[in-house]
Amino acid sequence: MADPQKIVDGNADGDFFVDTTCINCDTCRQLAPESFEDDGDYSRVYRQPRSEIERKEATRALISCPTGSIGDRSGSKVNSVIEDFPLLIDGNVYYCGFNSPKSYGGNSFLILDKEGNWMIDSPRFTRSLVKRIEALGGLSRIFLTHEDDVADAASFAKYFGAERIIHREALHAEPDAEVVLEGFDSVEILPSFLLIPTPGHTLGHVVLLYRNKYLFTGDHLYLDRTEQSAERRLEVHGRHCWYSYEELTDSVEKLLEYDFEWILAGHGDRGYLPKERVKEQLKELVNEMRADESNTHRR
Ligand SMILES: [Fe+2]
Repeated sequence: MADPQKIVDGNADGDFFVDTTCINCDTCRQLAPESFEDDGDYSRVYRQPRSEIERKEATRALISCPTGSIGDRSGSKVNSVIEDFPLLIDGNVYYCGFNSPKSYGGNSFLILDKEGNWMIDSPRFTRSLVKRIEALGGLSRIFLTHEDDVADAASFAKYFGAERIIHREALHAEPDAEVVLEGFDSVEILPSFLLIPTPGHTLGHVVLLYRNKYLFTGDHLYLDRTEQSAERRLEVHGRHCWYSYEELTDSVEKLLEYDFEWILAGHGDRGYLPKERVKEQLKELVNEMRADESNTHRR
């Protein structure tokens, strides 16, 4: 529970606040951008919610915060939003919420598919989310993009009898995974589900392309939203590139072979771009990254 004695500097006066246990993971800013901002070290409330919708969004952020760092002095309204999760993004694709501290607050997603539902990376194993997923048909598969974001995947797999999918080079994080991806060629594991190895952030990093429309990017690629009035930009986590920036660049270039228009990131924001703009932005990003390779991790 957030501590009002430890409120971060510059938090706007009012009910909602962030305390100094915040790990600045971005979850709240993605869910309630009208209320939360990045102060460099932490998130903080820069403007208190001005409407019921904004209050709802801030409360969703409160329960999804992986470290419980958000408080509401007016009293918990958790029950008013807890069944909002999984939160619909588009079509049959959802954001799970309940980000886990075990994955440094990484996002996880849910696909409701007639051949069986998929979870992409893992949220916290919480009773309310488990019940909601159960009501939506349970889980058949849990795809883990890389070793950082496995969180409670084992608990979800056990509860739902789902098989976990992970690359050989990330298997140390989930050694009991049922399906192990080998090598670095793309593999269509089921029609409409293409797994594309994207080494760079880590060696065993893989993204999922669903229906040639939704790209679940893990920590490979995200949509920047720092300039909210301008078009959002595809970006990579250059400063958090644990394996190889050169291979990260190659893995961004590799995505030019595919069509997609939704970018659904583990860390960093998610959103839509027309697929033609995706291609153009990918080309620009590759050019910028190649120029940066002499000064690795500068971005
Ligand atoms: Fe990661």
